[in-house]
Amino acid sequence: MTNTYEVAYKRSLEDPEGFWGDAAKEIDWVRECDQILDSSNKPFYRWFVGGECNTCYNALDRHADGGRGDQTALIYDSPVTNDTKRTYTYSQLRDEVARFAGVLRTQGVGKGDRVIIYMPMVPEAAIAMLACARLGAVHSVVFGGFAANELAVRIDDAKPKAIVSATCGIEINRVIEYMPLLNGAIELATHKPDKCVILARPECEAVLNPTRDVDWATAMATAAPTECVTVAATDPLYILYTSGTTGEPKGVVRDNGGHMVALKWTMKNIYDMDPGDVYWAASDVGWVVGHSYIVYAPLLHGCATVFYEGKPVGTPDAGAFWRMISEYRIKALFTAPTAFRAIKREDPDGLLIKDYDISCFEVLYLAGERTDPDTLHWAEEKLDVPVIDHWWQTETGWAIAANCMGLHQFPVKAGSPTKCVPGWDVQILDENGHPQETGTIGEIVVKLPLPPGTLPTLWNADERYLNSYLNEFPGYYKTSDAGIIDEEGYLSIMARTDDIINVAGHRLSTGGMEEVLSAHPDVAECAVIGVADQLKGQLPVGFLVLKAGVTKDDAEVVAEVVRMVREKIGPVAAFKTATVVDRLPKTRSGKILRGTMQKIADNEDYKMPATIDDPTILGEIDEALQGIGYSSGRS
Ligand code: COA
Ligand code: AMP
Repeated sequence: MTNTYEVAYKRSLEDPEGFWGDAAKEIDWVRECDQILDSSNKPFYRWFVGGECNTCYNALDRHADGGRGDQTALIYDSPVTNDTKRTYTYSQLRDEVARFAGVLRTQGVGKGDRVIIYMPMVPEAAIAMLACARLGAVHSVVFGGFAANELAVRIDDAKPKAIVSATCGIEINRVIEYMPLLNGAIELATHKPDKCVILARPECEAVLNPTRDVDWATAMATAAPTECVTVAATDPLYILYTSGTTGEPKGVVRDNGGHMVALKWTMKNIYDMDPGDVYWAASDVGWVVGHSYIVYAPLLHGCATVFYEGKPVGTPDAGAFWRMISEYRIKALFTAPTAFRAIKREDPDGLLIKDYDISCFEVLYLAGERTDPDTLHWAEEKLDVPVIDHWWQTETGWAIAANCMGLHQFPVKAGSPTKCVPGWDVQILDENGHPQETGTIGEIVVKLPLPPGTLPTLWNADERYLNSYLNEFPGYYKTSDAGIIDEEGYLSIMARTDDIINVAGHRLSTGGMEEVLSAHPDVAECAVIGVADQLKGQLPVGFLVLKAGVTKDDAEVVAEVVRMVREKIGPVAAFKTATVVDRLPKTRSGKILRGTMQKIADNEDYKMPATIDDPTILGEIDEALQGIGYSSGRS
C-alpha cells in the first residue's frame, strides 16, 4: 500500500522539476524562473534559474504585511542575563531588520558584499543575518566558541566589507569578551574589513576603535529603513564555514531561491508545523541548524522561532527546556542528543518535567549526531511524544533522512534516522563505486542532482568542491558518512569515513587539531583521534611523539598543546587530553593507523591491520591510553 510519503518520494525522484516547481509556488517571487533545474554545466546544477526574489521579504515582509504583523515572530529568552525576555512581532522584527539594513548600507554594504557576523545567541544576530539578506549581501556567521585564529581564516576567505559583533557572549556565568578576539582576528588577517558594527551589552563595556567601529544602538537611532533588494535565485545568501579534513575550513555556499523553496517545504512535510506554531531549535546561529531552523525556515513558514541564550543544564538546572516549552507553548523542539544526555545525567528520572505543563509539546527532533538508543528511549518514555532522529550535514542545509512527520509517520527504529526524505536519491556503494547489497555497510552517496537548498559549490573554490564531494564517485555526492540501508528502506549512519569527529554535536577536524599540535616546537609527530564519550558522543585525544633531546616534562608539553588548541581553534574543540608516546602505529607506507588506535581507546575488538609496520607498537599505545583512563582503563 502506498502512503503520502511514498507518493511524494517517488515523484521527487522521477519528476524533480515538477515536484520542486510545485513547492516553489509557496514562495513570493519578484520574477518567476525560466528554468527550474539547469543541468547544462554538470556536475554544477542550478535551481530556479532566471528567478528573482528576496529572502528577507519572504521571511518577514510578506507576513508583516499579509495578516501576521501582530503575531510573534521571535522569542528571546536569556537565563544567563538575569532572565532577560523579549518578543518581536513580525512587524517589529521587519522594522528592526529594515533599519539595520540601513545601518549596513550607510557603512557601504551592498548587494554581493560579504558581512561576517560574530555574535552570541541574541536576536540581533538574526537581525543582522536578515538585514544582509534584505540588501542582497552575503553573510557568514562565525560561531562564538571559535578563537581569533579561526575567525581570521574566515575573514581572509570571505573578505567581508563589514563585521557585525557584540561586546561579549556569556557561557553560563562566564563573560566571554569578544572585542579582544575580534581585534586579534583582524590583526591576524590579511584582509581588513572597512567597518565593524558592535552591539554593546550591559555585561561588558565597549571599547571601540573610533575609526573602524560603529556602535549598534547609536547607528540604529538615525538609520533609514531599507527596501528589499531583488537578487537572482542563484545569488548567494550566505557562506557557512565548516570543518574539512585540514585546518582550512570549507565555505559552504547557499543560494537564495532553492534555499527558500526547500526550507519552506520541510517545515510542513518533515516537521509538521503550521504557520503560527511555536518552533524551537535549541542550537546556535553559528551552526547550520541555527541558520536553517532558528532563523530561516520557521520565519519563511510564518512560525514563531525561539532564541535561547542558555544551556540544557546549569541555567539554572535540567528543567530549563521544560520551562521554555511550557512558558512559550512550544510545539516542537529540535536539538542534539548530547543536550538530552546532559539532562538525563542531572535528572535521570526526569522529575523536573513534572514541574511544568508541557501539554502543548508534540514532538522532539534530534540531529547533529546519531541518537543512541538509550537517549531515544529515555526521551520517549519521559516526554511521551514521538522522538525523531534525522540526519543531515552543513553542506545539505536540511535533512537527507528523516521520519517525515507531515507526510507519514513510520515506526521508529532505534539508531536509524528512518528513510530518505523526498528529493534525496541515497545509495550505498563499496569503495569501487559498486552498489552494496541491502544491509551491507558502505559509503553513503547521493545521486546528482542534489535537491534545492543544498550547496551549489564552495566559496571561491569550485575545484575543492569537486575534489571534496563529486570526483570520487562520478555522478554522486559523497557524504563522507558510512552506513546501511535495510530491507525496509531504513537508513543507519554508522561513522564518518574521514577524520571529522563529532563533539557535543559540533563538527571538528582532527586534522585541524594535528596541525596545531605539530606547530609545538617539541613535537616531532602527532595524531588526534576521537574517542567515545558518554556525554559528548566523542572527545578528541592527542598522541605526541617528542623530538629527540627534549628534556621538558611530558606533562608540561601536554599542558602547552592543550592551551594551544584552545587558543588557535577555540574552547569548542574540547581538546583537554593528550599523551606522549615513543612512536605511532603506522602502515608500511607510513599512514598512521588512527582507526585502530580509536578501537583500542574505546576498548573495542579490532583486527590487526595486515599492512602494519610493527605490531608491537599497539601494546605501547594501549598502555598509554590506559594511563589517561581509556582502553581497559576506562571507568
Ligand atoms: N562562546 C564561547 N565559548 C563557548 C561557546 C560560545 N558560543 N560555546 C561553547 N563554548 C565553550 C564552553 O564554555 C566550553 O568551555 P570550557 O572548556 O571552558 O568548559 C567549551 O566551549 C565546550 O563547549 P560544549 O561542547 O558546548 O560543552 P559544555 O560542557 O559547555 O556543554 C552541553 C555541554 C551538552 C550542555 C552542550 O554542548 C550543549 O548544550 N549542546 C547542545 C547541542 C548543540 O547546541 N549542538 C549544536 C548542533 S545542533
Ligand atoms: P554538521 O555538518 O556539523 O551538521 O555535521 C554533519 C555530520 O554529523 C554528518 O556527516 C554525520 O556524521 C553527523 N550527523 C548529523 N546528524 C546525524 C544523525 N542524525 N545521525 C548520525 N550522524 C549524524
